[in-house]
Amino acid sequence: MLETIIDIVRQAGEIVLSARDIGSQTREKTSAADLVTEYDLAVEQFLKEKLPPLVPGSIFFGEEEAENADPSRGWAFIVDPIDGTTNFVRGLQQSAVSVALAKDGALEYGVVYDPYKNEMFSARRGGGAFLNGAPIHVSDRPLDQGIFAMGTALYRPEYFQRTMRLTEQLFRRSCDFRRMGAAALDLCGVACGRTDAFFEYSLSPWDYAAGSLIVIEAGGAASTLEGGPLSVSRRCSCWASNRVNRDILKELEV
Ligand code: IPD
Ligand code: CA
Ligand code: CA
Repeated sequence: MLETIIDIVRQAGEIVLSARDIGSQTREKTSAADLVTEYDLAVEQFLKEKLPPLVPGSIFFGEEEAENADPSRGWAFIVDPIDGTTNFVRGLQQSAVSVALAKDGALEYGVVYDPYKNEMFSARRGGGAFLNGAPIHVSDRPLDQGIFAMGTALYRPEYFQRTMRLTEQLFRRSCDFRRMGAAALDLCGVACGRTDAFFEYSLSPWDYAAGSLIVIEAGGAASTLEGGPLSVSRRCSCWASNRVNRDILKELEV
C-alpha cells in the first residue's frame, strides 16, 4: 500500500512541476492571503480518482473538495494537493503534495512529496519513517543548539499575538527560527533532523496528518500545543519536536 501511494503521489508531483503561467490561473479563496490555483484543483482531482479505489469504501478528505463525510470513521484519505500554495504561486519552490491514510481516526500511512527537491517522505504506522527509501530520525539537539520552524496561522488572525509571543519565547531559547510556508514540509524537516521543533496555532488535518505520522515514526513527538492528540477531522494547533525538546512548552506561556 505504501509503495502504491508513493507512486501516485509522485505522479501528482509531476503535475505540480508541469505548472506554467500560474499567476493567470490563481484566484483568491477568502482573501489575498488565501489562494487557490488550477493546479491545486487538478492535483486534488487526480488524487481523488486514484486513491479511493485502493481501499474500497474509503472516503476522500481533501482541502479543496472534502467529501461530506467524517474522516475519523472507517478508512479515509486525508489530502492536501499542494501544501504551500502561496510559495507555489510565487515560485519559491517550497511546496508539497501530502497524503495520509487513516483508519478510524488512527494514521496508518503518511506520504509527503517535495517535487522540487525530489524528496519523498513516507511512513507506515509502526514501520519507521523514510526519505527516498532511507530511514530518517529526528535530531537529538536541545533547542539552545537548534532551530525551530513556525507557521503564522494566517487564516486565523486571532492567533497572531500568541504566535508572536511563543515565537519570541522559543527564539530566546534557540539559535534561530524559520517561517518556510508549507506545514507538511515543516513537519518533515523535524522528522529528518533539519530542524528541532515546529509549531503553528491553527492548522487543518490535511496540513499535518501525513507529516505528523512521519515525525512520530522518525522518533519524534507530534501533538497539539496543549499536548493532546491531533484531530483527523477538525482544525487544531500543532507542535512537533524531537524527544529532547518535547516538553519545553511546559516551561513557556503558550
Ligand atoms: C498553508 C501552509 C502554511 C501554513 C498555513 C497552511 P496551504 O497551507 O501549510 O505554511 O502556515 O496555515 O494553511 O494553504 O498552502 O495548503
Ligand atoms: Ca496546507
Ligand atoms: Ca493546500
